Amino acid sequence: MQEKSGITILGIYATDLTFMAARQPAIGETIAGTGFVMGPGGKGSNQAVAAAKCGGEVRFITRVGDDTFAKVARDIWQQAGVTACVIVDTVLATGAANIFVNDATGDNAIIVVAGASGALSGADVDSFSDEIKYAKVFMTQLEQPVEAALQGLKLAYINDTITILNPAPAVSLPAEIFALCDYITPNEVEAQSLTGLPVNNIDDAHAAAKALLTKGAKNAVITLGGEGVVLYDGQHVEHIPAFEVGEVVDTTGAGDAFNGGFAASLARGDNALMAARFGCAVAGIAVTRQGAANSMPVLEEVTNLLENR
Ligand code: RIB
Repeated sequence: MQEKSGITILGIYATDLTFMAARQPAIGETIAGTGFVMGPGGKGSNQAVAAAKCGGEVRFITRVGDDTFAKVARDIWQQAGVTACVIVDTVLATGAANIFVNDATGDNAIIVVAGASGALSGADVDSFSDEIKYAKVFMTQLEQPVEAALQGLKLAYINDTITILNPAPAVSLPAEIFALCDYITPNEVEAQSLTGLPVNNIDDAHAAAKALLTKGAKNAVITLGGEGVVLYDGQHVEHIPAFEVGEVVDTTGAGDAFNGGFAASLARGDNALMAARFGCAVAGIAVTRQGAANSMPVLEEVTNLLENR
């Protein structure tokens, strides 16, 4: 029997068009920005890049168009060492995102158009079933259709691959999806949307995590930005504080950095607490840099940070 290895991630790629400014313009208003950068993004792709730069053997399943933005995607995957499991769509364009970054706080607001990867189907996922079946860890998000995420989680679950659902952005989910999740990793907004409970602090996150386990997930990891993460396995609740590494420049992709690091650590055989701490370190470094995929640290930077704290 083929040995299980590495991490398979399903999700979207989008080219991020990031505008820095003091504030967002109102409808009908034009304001001068303070910077512009174009770079690789898309939650699934960002997570794949983060996991690969942290030493993971990573395969990324997606769809792209036959265009210039797809070239930006292939370049970042090649640089990071991600194996691309890609269907080229000859009709739809590669995804793109319009990102506002507050130039004082690094906070962001995003409009994403999934484009070709918005057409990912259950059949597309089936065409990469071996990549899921023989992975140690499978992870997906919700920027592509839920049908594709569900099919990936089903394939992983029945083949004893560890499953992670990062339910971002918040969308309505079929009840059956929760029992397929070894780990569900919402941020505070997504946790609130999934459970109907307010998530404003660590105690709230614990209550929401409990509600997610009642729905069927085995473990919940709720990310709380600068407050770190709350991990709940049904018996123990752990709060892992965020790493403060330096000035926060751009929070775009911070959740992806956490999830990519978390998956890489689990795939290496670390337990959930170690993996959550590792993910926090990856995110702590990523937010001190501009961009999404381009902000992900390499393994040595993360291990140095963990050893020095
Ligand atoms: O999580 C950040 C990502 O969300 C950005 O890179 C953007 O492309 C959107 O998908």
